Amino acid sequence: MVAKPRILLGVSGGIAAYKAAALTSTLVQRGNGVEVDVVMTAEAERFITPLTFASLTARPVYTSLWDLPERIPHIRLVREAQVVLVVPATANLIAKLAMGIADDLLTAALLAARIPRILAPAMNEAMYEDPATQANIAALRSRGYEIVEPERGFLAERERGVGRLPSEERILEALDRALARRQSLHGKRVAITAGPTREPFDPVRFLSNASTGSTGIELAREAALRGASVTLLLGPTQLEPPAGVSVVRIVTADELYEAALVHAVGADLTIATAAVADWRPAEHRESKLSKSGEDLTVRLEPNPDVLAALGKCKRSTFLVGFAAETGEHETRAREKLADKHLDAIAVNDVRGERGFGTGDNELVLLWGADGRRELGRSDKKTLAARLLDALEELMQCS
Ligand code: CTP
Repeated sequence: MVAKPRILLGVSGGIAAYKAAALTSTLVQRGNGVEVDVVMTAEAERFITPLTFASLTARPVYTSLWDLPERIPHIRLVREAQVVLVVPATANLIAKLAMGIADDLLTAALLAARIPRILAPAMNEAMYEDPATQANIAALRSRGYEIVEPERGFLAERERGVGRLPSEERILEALDRALARRQSLHGKRVAITAGPTREPFDPVRFLSNASTGSTGIELAREAALRGASVTLLLGPTQLEPPAGVSVVRIVTADELYEAALVHAVGADLTIATAAVADWRPAEHRESKLSKSGEDLTVRLEPNPDVLAALGKCKRSTFLVGFAAETGEHETRAREKLADKHLDAIAVNDVRGERGFGTGDNELVLLWGADGRRELGRSDKKTLAARLLDALEELMQCS
């Protein structure tokens, strides 16, 4: 028998706490058999009582680290749940989570959670827009929290602005996505190449490109959330790699090639998002080249094609390439699919604003002789989830 999915619902102290009760009622009425454990902060109890949630869920409501300390509630609750959702998440709660403060049951449970964590913030517009709150939200996002953006509308201060709790529909969408993907890649080994490579021609200069690695980082995060054991082969980038992923840092295409032969051969799924420099300076000078006023000619030689090499020695690995194209994009991508012995290729059009370093992207997935699925235009986190959904389907059929 499959256990009922369990949701841990955190309620922190803002006026929108009353909406958490309505959400709890919706959750228990939806008929998909979810169980809801509610944890309230002391401030939340000023707005609404535990009795409300206990009546709705027909379960105990947790308000303190110290009620049943022998059962270590902050660890047990996140181990028993599949998703933790906080409605509303106040500015104070968000700040504490960003700092790793764990001074009550809810913050301690969130710090210990290795399950998807979703926050639905609600607060005054000025508090939401303050750079401190925005930096805290960005930090939490980079650590894998999903933030359901607050909406614009009527606020408790009797003015209109951004900061209203997101609609129940949007919160439920985020929750359903998290429940659907739980553990779908459990037991699978996933290798992902990401970021640029740097090809030095003297100790301080190199050839590179504008890739930030964000597509690969989001894919690694998503695969880890789905239970895969993930190795991320990551080129030089300012972005933080996700938690729970094993990271191998590389600089040059040659280093990526060596690392891929160790970590990607034998994986169940390998996704090559790295923007590998196709050439490297033929000569690497040991000391810095001084200017002479003359023209400088740097001869370039080809780098190894990491993905093509993996295509040659893959056994049961499902091998996925990326193609950054500016013209006849799908025709070129289909050629790469065949030439590099890939199982699928994701095509992104890097003309204009999309692609490298930008927040949004647009992807089309191609496979086989004529398989094609548009994954649409969206932020890279959403596209990573859509791409893994599509790849999981293809892997089941292959
Ligand atoms: N790739 C790789 N090693 C290289 C070049 C590319 O592993 N030396 C991988 C990329 O990570 C990507 C795919 O190959 O998954 C396609 O890369 P792209 O640069 O679009 O195509 P190329 O094959 O390099 O062809 P071209 O630049 O001529 O379009």
